[in-house]
Amino acid sequence: MKKILIATDKPFAPVAVKGIRDIFSEGGYELALLEKYTSREQLLDAVKDVHAIIIRSDIIDAEIMDAAPALAIVVRAGAGYDNVDLPAATAHNVVVMNTPGQNANAVAELALGMMVYHARNLYNGSSGTELLGKSLGIHAYGAVGRRVGQIARGFGMEVYAFDPFIPGQKMEDDGVKPVRSREELYRNCQYISLHIPATDKTKRSIGQELLNSMPGPAVLVNTARKEVIDEEGLKQVMAARKDFAYLSDIAPDCAAELSEAYPGRVWFTPKKMGAQTAEANINAGLAAARQIRAFFEEGDRTFQVNR
Ligand code: 3PG
Repeated sequence: MKKILIATDKPFAPVAVKGIRDIFSEGGYELALLEKYTSREQLLDAVKDVHAIIIRSDIIDAEIMDAAPALAIVVRAGAGYDNVDLPAATAHNVVVMNTPGQNANAVAELALGMMVYHARNLYNGSSGTELLGKSLGIHAYGAVGRRVGQIARGFGMEVYAFDPFIPGQKMEDDGVKPVRSREELYRNCQYISLHIPATDKTKRSIGQELLNSMPGPAVLVNTARKEVIDEEGLKQVMAARKDFAYLSDIAPDCAAELSEAYPGRVWFTPKKMGAQTAEANINAGLAAARQIRAFFEEGDRTFQVNR
């Protein structure tokens, strides 16, 4: 009997765990659950006899794979897979998949929610501003960026997008204006919503020059990864421009410094919240479970990311 582990430092909603359990019990699999673990040893111990692991932002590296000799597949229930060592997985003959799009709406709703929260001065009773008519630049037009565009258009925002991998026509079909470069996007937009993955190329790629070029009052919204921000550049812009705000779903390393120096101009979730809805957990968790069954039962590798 194949054994599957759900290893989630940040647990899925119970209803999602139940759905995953049902999918595996119908197929005759054994399921183990490791939630809110506090040490790496617990994870190392839990993987020793498993054939598949479902994770969220949990780190899966060579040491974990060394400790899991039967492991054949890791599915990241979500979009970004920068938490999995892909070369190590390939070397261990482990297939890695994600579940693209499954939590996109939850992340997009949070991005717009953060914009409204900030525009209304964190609901402190004072007079704020509106999103209607403001320009929004979507940096990367994947599933989340596209959904952000749809919701933002509902707010009456003027929506632009930059993504070198997506044809401009697709954006135009969605009522979104494509631009040719990051520079053009930032130069044109008061709000920027980040949806780029964290890769060697994108880490620390959003810095002083781009941020300084945004027309004011400027708001950078990050529901992607904290690593894509050049924090030294961000600090310089925060210091130089009173009309610049940074909102992020996961605090930067310099969070304490920014929060103390610029109250009201920065806001961070205490824990990554983008995908923390029952719906997103169900969508991504059940997709992960189905992908694992399809892999074992049909050899389906559709969502493999380490080819
Ligand atoms: C993702 O990459 O899917 C999101 O950042 C959500 O991450 P999480 O599952 O750790 O909340």
